[in-house]
Amino acid sequence: MEFITKVGTADALRTDCIAVGVYTDGELTAAAKRIDAASRGAVRAAVKSGDVTGKRGTTLLLRDVAGVAAPRVLLVGLGKAAEFNDRAYAEAVRAAVKGAGSGTRELAIAATDWEVKERDGAWYARTLAIAAREVAFRSDELKSKRDDNQAVPARVALALAEAGAQRAASAGLAEGAAIANGMDLAKRLGNLPGNVCTPRYLGEQAVKLAREFKLGVEVMDERKIEKLGMGSFLSVGRGSDQPPRLIVLKYQGAAKGAAPYVLVGKGITFDSGGISIKPSANMDEMKFDMCGAAAVFGTLRALAELKAKINVIGIVPACENLPSGRANKPGDIVKSMSGQTIEILNTDAEGRLILCDALTYAERFKPAAVVDIATLTGACVVALGNVNSGLFATDDRLADDLARAGKTMLDPAWRLPLDDDYQEQLKSNFADMANIGTPGNAGAVIAACFLSRYAKAYPWAHLDIAGTAWKSGAAKGATGRPVPLLTKFLLERAG
Ligand code: BES
Ligand code: MN
Ligand code: ZN
Repeated sequence: MEFITKVGTADALRTDCIAVGVYTDGELTAAAKRIDAASRGAVRAAVKSGDVTGKRGTTLLLRDVAGVAAPRVLLVGLGKAAEFNDRAYAEAVRAAVKGAGSGTRELAIAATDWEVKERDGAWYARTLAIAAREVAFRSDELKSKRDDNQAVPARVALALAEAGAQRAASAGLAEGAAIANGMDLAKRLGNLPGNVCTPRYLGEQAVKLAREFKLGVEVMDERKIEKLGMGSFLSVGRGSDQPPRLIVLKYQGAAKGAAPYVLVGKGITFDSGGISIKPSANMDEMKFDMCGAAAVFGTLRALAELKAKINVIGIVPACENLPSGRANKPGDIVKSMSGQTIEILNTDAEGRLILCDALTYAERFKPAAVVDIATLTGACVVALGNVNSGLFATDDRLADDLARAGKTMLDPAWRLPLDDDYQEQLKSNFADMANIGTPGNAGAVIAACFLSRYAKAYPWAHLDIAGTAWKSGAAKGATGRPVPLLTKFLLERAG
């Protein structure tokens, strides 16, 4: 799907389909008014007939409207004008792309008069591109036939009333398309099953990404990980026949000496729980336990495509958490790369065991900040559901900037606490710390507290994406989150 801008009034625009907005109560947007005037009342007639309600997410496709240059007019319901907001905007774009009709190769959307408070021209364009691409995404590479039941337009144009708006809009579309490419990569990797997307496969994908975008890359095997002293990370992977990988990707968009931002992504390619094995219901969804890693790859892809002026390093510890004769057992004590020892009271709390060593490894880059991204706790899903990612930070500016980026990108994150008093739960009688606290007691916070003990050398934030990285049920699949949040945050830091 390609994105362009087109300048002209809705009635005169030459395109396959022109989409204009209609609010409930028959209130028309400026573009809908133009179409209505040019056609001597076709839009108002559609409203009057009851065929157009203006309800959010609804569309009506009209053909051969007199006085209109485009052969199709798509009326898009925007809901109540007073309630229209950023989320309604994205929803309306998705509805327009779905409703354009299978004959439409180019869809022009007159979306800039769908008024969202405090958003600039680049936002309209960026959000449009991301929303449109969401409709186009398919997950059919492992099906014997392609899913082509619903065709989408090959080109989507943002229709602009004035040429002056073109620059910001084009930049926004390019940004949106790059972010969508990053999200698609994250979704694709997330959706791949554990027998395909192994630690080795993730390493190969990193090399491929590095080749395509001229990134630095290093994929370390078990021996190298052992040499680094990552006893905690290694202990998790040991239960599996699939060997672990430590993946490092480097994007250099700023001066060599500029301190890099480091993204650490949890790369558990399947989480059975290990000896503390999970119940079998929905266990298939634990193939998504590498969505943090996928988000790191996706974000680096987006930044590289945009040639962002910033240095970013991605670190992905990748392994599989399975039970076997070599797996961690409850009560086992391992030594992390930091020297701190950990009593593993529950082998299903494995994410923190691989991330802690990656966080220690990050120190060598003298980072400006480190953000880790992990499908870390079921407790985070209990706390925040599927709307907000959990956000934890040792640095208020970092937390504020991440939260703001998430809000702008419709990829929200909500800050949760890290008070010292929670740390007491991690006390162990036999090691420096336990890997879990009291079951049923602030589990998402305790996991973050555990990680914070390994992230003292730099400003640090942690995103728990257990509830936001994928959808369950009929729409089961990876979401590509939080690629939009991370990319926007880093683009802002790039200045
Ligand atoms: N990958 C899971 C977290 C998870 C569970 C994400 C369900 C999404 C849905 C993680 O490794 C895990 O198993 N965490 C445990 C921690 C507990 C043993 C302290 C959990 O949340 O139950
Ligand atoms: Mn687990
Ligand atoms: Zn896990």
